Amino acid sequence: MCGICCVVSLSLQTPDGWLLKEGILDSLRRRGPNCSHQLVKSGLHPPYQCLFSGHVLHLRGRMTLQPLEDPASGNVFLWNGEIFGGIHVEAEENDAQVLFRHLCSCSSESDILSVLSSVQGPWSFVFYQASRHCLWFGRDYFGRRSLLWQFNKDRDKILALSSVSAGSENDSPWQEVPASGIFKLDLQICATFKGVFLTLHPWKCPSGENITEEAMIGDRNPALKDLPSHVSLTVNESHLLVVPVVPLNTKQPEESRFSDFTGNVADVGILRRFLAEDRKKKLVHQFIDVLSRAVKKRVICPARDTDQFEGEMLKAAPRRPQIAVLFSGGVDSILLARLADRHVPLDEPIDLLNVAFANPNQAGRNDSTQKCSKKKRQLPSLECLNNANTAKLDPLSSFNVPDRITGRAGLGELKATNPSRSWNFVEINVTLEELKAMRRQQISQLVYPLDTVLDDSIGCAVWFAAKGEGLVTNQGDTGPYKSPAKVVLTGIGADEQLAGYSRHRVCFQKYGFEGLNKELRMELGRISSRNLGRDDRVIGDHGKEARFPFLDEEVVSFLNSLPVSEKADLTLPRGIGEKLLLRLAAAELGLTASSVLPKRAMQFGSRIAKLESSHEKASDKCMRLRSVSVEELPLMDPKLL
Ligand SMILES: *[C@@H]1O[C@H](CO)[C@@H](O)[C@H](O)[C@H]1NC(C)=O
Ligand SMILES: *[C@@H]1O[C@H](CO)[C@@H](O)[C@H](O)[C@H]1NC(C)=O
Ligand SMILES: *[C@@H]1O[C@H](CO)[C@@H](O)[C@H](O)[C@H]1NC(C)=O
Ligand SMILES: *[C@@H]1O[C@H](CO)[C@@H](O)[C@H](O)[C@H]1NC(C)=O
Ligand SMILES: *[C@@H]1O[C@H](CO)[C@@H](O)[C@H](O)[C@H]1NC(C)=O
Repeated sequence: MCGICCVVSLSLQTPDGWLLKEGILDSLRRRGPNCSHQLVKSGLHPPYQCLFSGHVLHLRGRMTLQPLEDPASGNVFLWNGEIFGGIHVEAEENDAQVLFRHLCSCSSESDILSVLSSVQGPWSFVFYQASRHCLWFGRDYFGRRSLLWQFNKDRDKILALSSVSAGSENDSPWQEVPASGIFKLDLQICATFKGVFLTLHPWKCPSGENITEEAMIGDRNPALKDLPSHVSLTVNESHLLVVPVVPLNTKQPEESRFSDFTGNVADVGILRRFLAEDRKKKLVHQFIDVLSRAVKKRVICPARDTDQFEGEMLKAAPRRPQIAVLFSGGVDSILLARLADRHVPLDEPIDLLNVAFANPNQAGRNDSTQKCSKKKRQLPSLECLNNANTAKLDPLSSFNVPDRITGRAGLGELKATNPSRSWNFVEINVTLEELKAMRRQQISQLVYPLDTVLDDSIGCAVWFAAKGEGLVTNQGDTGPYKSPAKVVLTGIGADEQLAGYSRHRVCFQKYGFEGLNKELRMELGRISSRNLGRDDRVIGDHGKEARFPFLDEEVVSFLNSLPVSEKADLTLPRGIGEKLLLRLAAAELGLTASSVLPKRAMQFGSRIAKLESSHEKASDKCMRLRSVSVEELPLMDPKLL
């Protein structure tokens, strides 16, 4: 994970404080704490300047300073990504260096696009091609790494690109760079005509396939529709950038073969009936294999080998955890932990990060205080606050939120499947005060430019979870713990591909398989703008790297190749029918109780959604994300308290 930033100016005087004033540098450094570096490239006739700023979190190969610069060509490269396939990287090599070498050896634009098409893994990048005075940038097909852009009329800073930013009243807004292809900025044209001239090479399916233009522009590129008027965008239709996954299979099943099922209880016995069938069992094993490979690529850290070496030198020094899982105790996260267990050395603990939100002062409060809290959002409500502070209540029980309870149960199952592994179940308790303080200090600017109630809830929950500070109980002793793992696995992408949300059930009931396929395609298409950029910014803030096994190219291709009826059977009860294939995999791997847990969204499971407000809609703009929230002001003023 790295923090990358590039600012393009059409003047030749170096503007003061290009970046510093917005505190962006601090945020970038938190993403890349190991080394920071900046350099400027300029062109004279007509004049332009580009400032490149790179901040590296060291994870593999030799520590490599960014931006990379090629002395021979003058090219510059900023890379925030991981190569998990497609381009060969030796264990001791640095992937940014390898890719930069490939890009520098390209002699044409189509070469550049073909190199980028071949990379498997999450990425965002900026590449300055000196000979052509071009700036290339973009995000991988799913948008697993954040990249934001900001356009300005001011010639000192016509375009800024950055992994992370912050909204500021007097500044042009930032937006996420759409993950719809690779952008090229011709700096000489920009300098000559004093504007921003962009070319987009969109992702295209291999020829013959049928993804309509509407799907490309409508679902994937909402941000392209409202670019400022001084920005000109040309879409190049040469189909040179190839989508890295196979298209979605939309074949309709003849009929559901388990329609004889009666009752509406999620029971692992139903899963066993499916698994008794050879064909189904084979499919489940194919899924386990492809997901297991995806997890393996993501948990093998070359850094571990040096650790091991030092470990031998120091004799039996205990290994430090390198891998953490965002662990709600839901079936997705348990399955990831179970598969990580296959590939992480047995003497290395695995951290399971489990977050719970509660206002300890609210535990067990009675009707009168509850009425009070309902009024809270309209009034500063000091009376309620005081009531709560003086109540003598058990502060501990309130953290026993649904995700904590299923998390503990999941831990039990993991222990049973591998008793020799040391699992650190990290209980992360967050109070309302901490939530408010950290949202104001840091999280709101990481979530930005996203701004809904749902973005706030999930952004905050993921931030606290990924931070990894809580309590761990080991052999009966409970003590404070901070997860040192730099790699954080998350289960995102499972619900979108395997029909895990309750809206999928509604959609299926109304529109059948065709409607469900449409919905799933649309959701995977917009996952970059809905989730991934935000989650990357939020997790990266801890100097950790989010990894998404369910969005591995091979996993997506495997799931896309199956008819939807193999992935989910929404005629079956909740807890079985959604994500059926995934539940079967979990059951086959011995996770019986977890395999039939119904989906619970993180904002409800962690109870963060209950903490502050219960009358908002998830899609409402979240006032709390504004830098100074109206609601918080009176509470923060000590004079008022
Ligand atoms: C990188 O920075 C992190 C956080 O400051 C530190 O824990 C780690 O040891 C550093 N790694 C290297 C190789 O310097
Ligand atoms: C699209 O890009 C390719 C590769 O750079 C180029 O050869 C082609 O001329 C471009 N097409 C148009 C219409 O500009
Ligand atoms: C693409 O889809 C359209 C409309 O669904 C259809 O008419 C056309 O034949 C399809 N083309 C290919 C190559 O499948
Ligand atoms: C509930 O509220 C009443 C006042 O309305 C108070 O007398 C009582 O002690 C409260 N009970 C608890 C458990 O806090
Ligand atoms: C966190 O919550 C759990 C209940 O899930 C409780 O057992 C633990 O003591 C709490 N820790 C702190 C520091 O409040």
